[in-house]
Amino acid sequence: MARLRQFGSANRSVGTGARARPVEPSSSGLLRLLIGGCPPVVRFLRQGGGSSGCFSDRLLILAALSLVMAAASSCRLDMQVQPRENPLSKSDFYADQRSERPPVEGAVARDDLREDTYFYTGKIGDNPGDVMPFAVTKEVLNRGRERFNIFCAPCHSRLGDGNGFVPSRGFARKPPSFHIARLEKAPLGYFFDVITNGFGIMPDYASQIPPPDRWDIIAYIRALQLSQNATMSDVPAGQQVPSEPPKFREPGSGATLPVLAPGTKSPEEGSQNTKDDMQSAAMKGNLQVNQ
Ligand code: HEC
Repeated sequence: MARLRQFGSANRSVGTGARARPVEPSSSGLLRLLIGGCPPVVRFLRQGGGSSGCFSDRLLILAALSLVMAAASSCRLDMQVQPRENPLSKSDFYADQRSERPPVEGAVARDDLREDTYFYTGKIGDNPGDVMPFAVTKEVLNRGRERFNIFCAPCHSRLGDGNGFVPSRGFARKPPSFHIARLEKAPLGYFFDVITNGFGIMPDYASQIPPPDRWDIIAYIRALQLSQNATMSDVPAGQQVPSEPPKFREPGSGATLPVLAPGTKSPEEGSQNTKDDMQSAAMKGNLQVNQ
């Protein structure tokens, strides 16, 4: 302790009892702070290490500290400046003078295997195929609708009739409707190809829409096409609307009411029970009529 005290010329204390601590004048206080966290140095000083008085002690410690710091920083430099090649640079090390080694033959980048060519091209040989590569579930159609409305509807419209917002504002060409006979008959793989490679002035969406989403969209386009041409026989049994829809002689214009074709009941008439029906039902005890 005697040696340590030499650092401070006039030791004062703050606090009382066990918490009292000496306050050193500024510069030697800083040094003490530096070595305070280093028990070996403190121990060395306590044991009276060094014999030539306080000034040379301090010099010695400073020198040791700077040595340690220099050693530490040079360590880091060693790691930073390593012998290495910049990517795709010229190298004298290899016979072909390329720093880059060619990949092993047959190597495939991760996630790039694409063994299932139909899934990634929509083609069987050179021709577009007409099967979905996976089963169409409700989730597939929901996802397809979501993606279609994001990526295709701005031009093709949510109905797929080609009356989207973008063409209405002067896009060079109006897209064809998906409900024309040619596109209704077009195989599924054809749509995959159009999304993947674009068509005419339509850009491709290969980078925005990954292959599984492309198939989801295609399934939804088929559903859209069906929705415009469905007949009663397409509706599964048990989900059919029981009555025939009314036939109109004049469809209403909005300002005028629709005129029904002769011999058709209006939906209200069709579904409402007449007073006679209700009375006969009441007589059979099936129905209470409050009159
Ligand atoms: C920027 C507007 C735009 C977007 C977005 C767009 N299309 Fe098109 N699409 C067009 C235009 C315009 C054409 C007609 C191109 C032509 O004839 O040069 C077209 C044509 C098509 C055709 C018809 C090809 C044929 O044989 O006539 C299909 C199928 C099609 N698009 C599918 C899609 C699908 C699926 C999406 C969404 C992933 C999509 N499009 C997104 C503008 C767009």
